[in-house]
Amino acid sequence: MKTAFADLDNFLKTLKASGELKIISDPVSPYLDISRYTDTESKKPDGGQALYFQNVTGYRFPVATNIFGSPQRICLALGVSHLDELADRVREYIEFNPPGSLKEALNIIPMAITASKFIPRAFKGKQAPCQEVVHTGADVDLSRLPVLHCWPKDGGPFVTLPLVFTRSLETGRRNVGMYRLQIFDRNTTGMHWHIHKDGSHYYSEYVAANRRMPVSVAIGADPATTYAATAPLPRGIDEMLLAGFIRKKPVRMVKCLTNELEVPAEAEFVLEGYVDPGEMRLEGPFGDHTGYYSLADDYPVFHVTAVTHRKNPVYSATLVGPPPMEDCYLAKATERLFLPMLQTVFPEIVDYWFPWEGVFHNIVIIALDKGYACHAPRIMSGLWGQGQMSFCKAIVVVDKTVNPQDPAAVLAELVTKLDLETDVTLSKGVLDVLDHSSPNVNFGNKIGIDLTTRVGDEPPRQRHHEDLTVPAGAELLAIAREASPAVTGCRQMLGEKGVPRDGHRVLAVNIDKTGHGSGQDIASALLDSKALAAFTLILMFDAAIDLENPSLILWKLFNNTDPGRDLVIRAGRAAVDASIKSPEDGHNREWPEELTLDID
Ligand SMILES: Cc1cc2nc3c(=O)[nH]c(=O)nc-3n(C[C@H](O)[C@H](O)[C@H](O)COP(=O)(O)O)c2cc1C
Repeated sequence: MKTAFADLDNFLKTLKASGELKIISDPVSPYLDISRYTDTESKKPDGGQALYFQNVTGYRFPVATNIFGSPQRICLALGVSHLDELADRVREYIEFNPPGSLKEALNIIPMAITASKFIPRAFKGKQAPCQEVVHTGADVDLSRLPVLHCWPKDGGPFVTLPLVFTRSLETGRRNVGMYRLQIFDRNTTGMHWHIHKDGSHYYSEYVAANRRMPVSVAIGADPATTYAATAPLPRGIDEMLLAGFIRKKPVRMVKCLTNELEVPAEAEFVLEGYVDPGEMRLEGPFGDHTGYYSLADDYPVFHVTAVTHRKNPVYSATLVGPPPMEDCYLAKATERLFLPMLQTVFPEIVDYWFPWEGVFHNIVIIALDKGYACHAPRIMSGLWGQGQMSFCKAIVVVDKTVNPQDPAAVLAELVTKLDLETDVTLSKGVLDVLDHSSPNVNFGNKIGIDLTTRVGDEPPRQRHHEDLTVPAGAELLAIAREASPAVTGCRQMLGEKGVPRDGHRVLAVNIDKTGHGSGQDIASALLDSKALAAFTLILMFDAAIDLENPSLILWKLFNNTDPGRDLVIRAGRAAVDASIKSPEDGHNREWPEELTLDID
């Protein structure tokens, strides 16, 4: 690392100098225009460039998006040439200070960063940059900020890259989290902290005490500080310590003007204010990082008592939506940085991978240094009880010899090994608020798939399928339609030629459920068909899904499937319903709409 970026402007200059920043001088509106540019750019190979919109119609502030959104930019942002360098710094610390207890192991990153003396410092100058311009009281007007209306059916404009500062009423400890803010009017916004997050936990302390909760929000800080707000640190650990650790330089903090909190002095904008206990308002819908609209729901209200900013601030925002988007790279940084921490608790985890089609909370692939029978289910249980890993819906465990980040290698393990009768563990637990597959909000079914080599008393895997001729082409579609008239299209997947004779044969089908019963009914009909007996895994998708697009079908599979309801296993074969669910499937809550920038 050269030197830490002092502020956002400094980072943008570096991006420009490295050819990573595209200046857009055309006039653009924050209503969908900036989203269109950003969506197109994010879908380019390796995330395209960061975007700087000079001319935002009706606003005096420029807007930057996609600043973290490529392998190169996330490394630049965090001052490394490879993300594993951050993990190596944590590992160095662990080697010299091995944790003595589980509690210490869980706090290894905080211990490392505290010990490194990167604790935030008070700003000493005359005037903090973030307070060069001050609006308080009746002068507060959030409509002056070029806040993006990201997707057509969003409930309004949303601040999408905010650093939300709070303190625990009980311990006084600071928390910084990234929780979106819906602009309601000139001085109020929504406060979208999910129930499992630290901001929400601290809020519940104020509710219990019936006290007003001070809240301040920084928008646009140096990139390490912004990243730190997204990091899943244990409750009670100040994310500003992590920012200092990454920057190798403490964050300078300044006291707010209308509440007692502190914010990064170098921020572009700061919103100061409070949240009243028990005051809730409908927030959303919002086009979310799952690629769907998260549904409107009641969330606390943030009252803004001051807006302060630099003389010439840049408003920074992100667009989340169908992956890949900028947040995939922020999540990648977290994946790499938190591996050593996880390894202090589970040293047998060699590596892991969150495929972006799983939008982080839906699936993780673990490479395990297996030591004994039932080791993989033990790890699954452990992870389902661990911080934000507990949101994970599916955990797939492979041997340490398999690279978990290599999709082809993982799929090869799956088709050659999976014994559906013995490799699958079903469980229940908390789910991310954004999971829409479960009929229940915030909790539901989970699945663990153990693809590790059998050891000890573990019985050998059975081969449940017969060596049958695999139908193809028009004949295949006719057979599938005969099995269930709901089928509208089909395709054999994972390369007919590549699969060993005793490997799984995978059939993907498009279905239109209308008038054909539930997903389970259709799954059963397909599994019952003798003519389809050569297929041991049948994946069901909505009629409009392009079965030739592997990323699309994995995204649908991971997002739309409740493993307890949508997976039908019979005699070593399985069908999975990854289509939209309705009350007919036992799904009695609203199914969210998929995002598109087209306006109908
Ligand atoms: C761009 C972006 C937007 C996010 N928006 C939200 C949000 O609106 N609500 C939420 O609870 N988490 C959101 N998250 C995830 C949290 O920031 C993340 O879980 C963080 O660890 C929470 O901090 P905490 O553990 O201190 O609560 C978002 C993450 C990113 C990268």
